[in-house]
Amino acid sequence: MHAPPQTTLPLISAQNVRKTYRLGKISVPVLRDASIDVHEGEWVSIVGSSGSGKSTLLHLLGGLDRADADSGAIRFGGEDIRALGAARENRYRNRDVGFVFQFYHLLPELNVLENAMLPALVGLSRWRWFAEKGALRDRTAELLKTCGLGHRLLHRPAELSGGERQRVAIARALVNGPRMLLADEPTGNLDAKTGAGILDLLAERHAAGLTMVMVTHDAAIAARAQRQVRIADGRVQ
Ligand SMILES: Nc1ncnc2c1ncn2[C@@H]1O[C@H](COP(=O)(O)OP(=O)(O)O)[C@@H](O)[C@H]1O
Ligand SMILES: [Mg+2]
Repeated sequence: MHAPPQTTLPLISAQNVRKTYRLGKISVPVLRDASIDVHEGEWVSIVGSSGSGKSTLLHLLGGLDRADADSGAIRFGGEDIRALGAARENRYRNRDVGFVFQFYHLLPELNVLENAMLPALVGLSRWRWFAEKGALRDRTAELLKTCGLGHRLLHRPAELSGGERQRVAIARALVNGPRMLLADEPTGNLDAKTGAGILDLLAERHAAGLTMVMVTHDAAIAARAQRQVRIADGRVQ
């Protein structure tokens, strides 16, 4: 795989981003001028010890949390995501980015198909939902098949293995056709063999053109990416 030409604009870029958590009167600086560029089509892994700020950085990239107000910028396609305005910011989180978490975060009362469809329902009027639900169900069922879940569409999360749950979460992250997938320790709760299957699924998506940023503390897992960066002392080294 070729390294992308560095003259092109990164798809996602964080420049000198700071994040400080405040616990009462105590400030806990987690990121201090962290910077990272990820180009379209890349697969980058972010490694670092537990508590180094990997999840924090990924949440900032995905718009799930905000950097300190006076710190640098996070740009997606050149646009500062803090300047988007609420509606466009919601669309960024819902459409441009897919997020996969270590602990899946599926809704237990919904079946596999319903869980995976959920992001596609956000913002749909009742009328459009009614008009489009058949096509959406078909499209989501197809996606779930490509994630190895064709035989589990109507099962609830409690009836699935950990690996199957993560496959549902990956399908949910992909259902709106995001430009970028952010994955936070996606195999962190799985045994090595099941985790390898999940990484194979992610690798297929990357090979099909998806940009991916994956956080892990495991060197062997990080090595599946094209490029690795390490976070330490609040900075991307
Ligand atoms: N919401 C929060 N409030 C206060 N401290 C937090 C919060 N989230 C994370 N932290 C602290 O920030 C540091 C980095 O956390 P995190 O980004 O989750 O690290 P990693 O994912 O690398 O293990 C840790 O010391 C953690 O305790
Ligand atoms: Mg973490």
